[in-house]
Amino acid sequence: MEFMLTLFLLCPFVIFTTTASDVCSRPDLPVNVEVDGLQRFYNPGDELVLSCIQGYTPILGPRTIVCSARGTWTKTRLMCKPKQCPYPDLLSNGELYYEDTVFQSTINYTCHEGHILSGASSAVCQASGTWSSAVPECKPVTCDLAPIPQFGMIIYDKTISGNSTEYGVTGTYSCLPPYVLFGSARAECTASGTWTKTPECRVVSCPPPETIDKGYMSNSDQRPFDFMETVKYGCDGDYALEGSMQIVCQQNGGWSEKPSCKAPCSVGISRGRILFGGQKLWIKDLPSKRVLHKEIVSLYCKNKARGCGYPVPTQCIDGKLIIPECFEEPSAIDYNLHSGSLPSEIEQC
Ligand SMILES: *[C@@H]1O[C@H](CO)[C@@H](O)[C@H](O)[C@H]1NC(C)=O
Ligand SMILES: *[C@@H]1O[C@H](CO)[C@@H](O)[C@H](O)[C@H]1NC(C)=O
Repeated sequence: MEFMLTLFLLCPFVIFTTTASDVCSRPDLPVNVEVDGLQRFYNPGDELVLSCIQGYTPILGPRTIVCSARGTWTKTRLMCKPKQCPYPDLLSNGELYYEDTVFQSTINYTCHEGHILSGASSAVCQASGTWSSAVPECKPVTCDLAPIPQFGMIIYDKTISGNSTEYGVTGTYSCLPPYVLFGSARAECTASGTWTKTPECRVVSCPPPETIDKGYMSNSDQRPFDFMETVKYGCDGDYALEGSMQIVCQQNGGWSEKPSCKAPCSVGISRGRILFGGQKLWIKDLPSKRVLHKEIVSLYCKNKARGCGYPVPTQCIDGKLIIPECFEEPSAIDYNLHSGSLPSEIEQC
């Protein structure tokens, strides 16, 4: 026990004696430089062979250092530089991204839209000075041939050969008559390898057209009518057609708006003169005392203060013609015997 303690107490002394000034301690190595079998102390004359760590190559020299009698190491200018990988080839239809091409640098690869990467999407420069993987390929996306709707067809904008098409190929759909296309007529092979939405070809029919009041139509068949079929309308007698003369069966299965027949107006006076179509007429000379829808007639009023007459216009609207308030119907005597005194005959204002 006593012996053990003595040995223990002696230990620091032993170490002290071996750190005497004539030995070299572990050398400070430049970055990325290493030596084999590092030990704590070296005797004068000991030689160390320096090398570069993995992935680095030596430049300048010398590659050995020697422990001198003064306990210092000889100088070295050895430097280790990262290994260089070859410059990568360009990627057609894609891009590569890298900052450097030395040991541990990374290249990232991406493909342009509509192309799929085949191979590794990145490569690392290895200690051997080669890339971890070969340059990948960017292959164009392909679509199957476009789906064709029942009763429809597609015309491609360019000739297609084989069973597939490339990204970006376009075409136009159409339906065989009388089918009507619902959806988009344009088709495109998208970057995801699928086609844009396929439209549908549907039958469109409209119910038999409706009759109109005081009118007639060119076709009163009680059957379904096809898309785009038309029917014409007309009005009876003095009725006037308002709206479009023709209706068409629309894509939504309904007809376009049908017209209506508007009634003529009777000019509700028995005695007097009117201005109609640029002419002054006695009311009895107006055929059946009627004007048509939208037509304008003027009745004469008298400005009593100035003793002159003037025409007041009024319009026939679907059977209604408003007689101007200032109009006074003359008595039968005035009308028959003193017609020269009526507002239409005296001096005009
Ligand atoms: C490569 O991609 C990785 C992961 O997305 C990213 O961290 C790195 O910065 C990229 N390198 C370059 C040079 O673009
Ligand atoms: C297209 O596909 C059909 C059925 O899948 C096959 O029978 C035909 O040989 C293909 N044609 C071409 C040109 O690849």
